[in-house]
Amino acid sequence: MKVFVLYDSLYGNTQKIAEAIGQAFIGEARVSKVTQINLSEVEGAGLLIVGSPTHGGRPTPAVQDFLKNIPGSSIQGTSFAAFDTRSSILIARVFGYASPRIAATLKEKGGMMISPPEAFFVVGSKGPLKDGELERALNWGKKLKEILERK
Ligand SMILES: Cc1cc2nc3c(=O)[nH]c(=O)nc-3n(C[C@H](O)[C@H](O)[C@H](O)COP(=O)(O)O)c2cc1C
Repeated sequence: MKVFVLYDSLYGNTQKIAEAIGQAFIGEARVSKVTQINLSEVEGAGLLIVGSPTHGGRPTPAVQDFLKNIPGSSIQGTSFAAFDTRSSILIARVFGYASPRIAATLKEKGGMMISPPEAFFVVGSKGPLKDGELERALNWGKKLKEILERK
């Protein structure tokens, strides 16, 4: 089965989370920046996991472009899950977050959400990741794998 963990990352935190999620799928997952993947490769994916840093309450422009350019026909019925990284600073809450927006777009394109959007926290605005987040990411990946196997 083809599992994709696709992300964008400015300071490296989202990349670390994506790699930890990928580790749950021993040998099955391709972990890649959204800018380094050809859209045609995603067609027929068994699971599409898309993550982004939250910037102004949204995914980064690279993730937004990637989502916009996915042809609906290529992810019709495809299982997906979305995650984001976000600041633990409370003021950031007013803008909303990236992962619900990623999920909404993938749903609109016909994807099938297998788990609610997940959030991982960085300290301050640039990171590092809060303690325990990499482990939580690995466990989230394992949970997604189980959900997929039960389907
Ligand atoms: C331009 C910019 C806007 C940001 N806006 C938000 C925001 O609206 N909400 C939030 O929680 N964090 C915000 N942050 C913090 C980012 O979410 C944080 O830098 C990101 O999770 C780190 O991931 P990365 O290391 O993969 O780039 C912002 C950061 C930048 C640089």
